[in-house]
Amino acid sequence: MRALVAGAVGEPNGVLRLESRPVPTPEAGQALIRVKATPIHASDLHVVRGRYGFSPEFPDVGGHMECVGRIEALGPGTEGLKIGERVVVAAVPAVPGPQMAGTWQEYLVAATHRLLPVPHHLSDSSACQLAVNPLTALLLVARELDVRPGEWLVQTAAGSTVGRLVIQLAGHLGIRTINVVRRRSAVDEIKALGGDEVICTEDEDLLRRVTEIAGPAGVRKAIDCVAGPVGAQVSQALAPGGEVAVYGALSTHRQTDPAALTIPLSARSVIYETKVVRGFWLNRWFGTASPADVLDALSEVRTLVTDGVLSIPPGRPFPLERFTEAISFAETPAHGAKPLFVFDDDRDEDEE
Ligand SMILES: NC(=O)c1ccc[n+]([C@@H]2O[C@H](COP(=O)([O-])OP(=O)(O)OC[C@H]3O[C@@H](n4cnc5c(N)ncnc54)[C@H](OP(=O)(O)O)[C@@H]3O)[C@@H](O)[C@H]2O)c1
Repeated sequence: MRALVAGAVGEPNGVLRLESRPVPTPEAGQALIRVKATPIHASDLHVVRGRYGFSPEFPDVGGHMECVGRIEALGPGTEGLKIGERVVVAAVPAVPGPQMAGTWQEYLVAATHRLLPVPHHLSDSSACQLAVNPLTALLLVARELDVRPGEWLVQTAAGSTVGRLVIQLAGHLGIRTINVVRRRSAVDEIKALGGDEVICTEDEDLLRRVTEIAGPAGVRKAIDCVAGPVGAQVSQALAPGGEVAVYGALSTHRQTDPAALTIPLSARSVIYETKVVRGFWLNRWFGTASPADVLDALSEVRTLVTDGVLSIPPGRPFPLERFTEAISFAETPAHGAKPLFVFDDDRDEDEE
């Protein structure tokens, strides 16, 4: 079978290569999955560059987050799932916990408690992106920050996949969003999606605009995936006692200068206004949640997606052989669609 393997830590297009590997055999409690589609997330490229929160042993099959595929075989005595069934694989490695198989390959073995059957009408493109970004949006908004109906929520990189899902979820829950983007050309799209307010850092002052929008009561909750000076400004823009959950560091992408990998907080604002700046990482959530909690949360996300509350933007398919092009596309500013590696499937009647 074909697998896209990183031989060592390095620039993805320098260290990734296509290899032929044997199809693995599932053990008890595991299933063999024939992969249909799997995304290229920014975090996947961080792993290859050796700059993520965990580091696998190299050589390593890339893609550590999620995929959709069909169950090809079950391990001995493994029950509850059917051969041929289409499932989402939440391949996110738990931290602390065992490493899981990479998804950028034709077949992989996964524990059955990380598999979620998907309904016929959900496309492969949506299903293969269900377990990471929609789950992150749900956990951040509804559990980590417990944002209540009527409250304001500030979020950065509002045009990201997570950002768009947060806007939809907030609309469903009656939460009002202040959406920060870096390009003026993204503003209309965010408004059309239902974003209540949009701040464009290209030509607007974030602090002043948050104050204008939210008035004297201010905003107490924020999520940030940009970090750097933008993340610091978000914390400063919050009302006293406010809390920001930092879940990404897009401004640090491709940076090697250690000073660039910081969030330069205002000590006065943090101390005298008793702000909280804390992290969220799905891998650590998977490391602490029980298998039942994980399946409950994934099922909740599946319901939100199948009921049309959350719509996952369609990905852009690439065959595995065109990985160089797919990775360059993933790193192009304003590229829009999420790049997906797709594999041929002769039995695609399940998907619309
Ligand atoms: N902590 C966790 O567990 C967790 C889970 C899921 C996702 N994440 C993180 O969430 C972030 C978003 O992921 P995604 O898959 O939704 O992203 P995505 O769909 O690939 O979108 C990336 C977005 O970020 C914007 N962006 C890129 N660099 C930026 C910068 N320097 N300043 C401001 N905006 C910037 C892009 O804007 P343009 O359109 O202008 O290019 C684009 O809208 C990533 O950092 C990812 O690692 C974290």
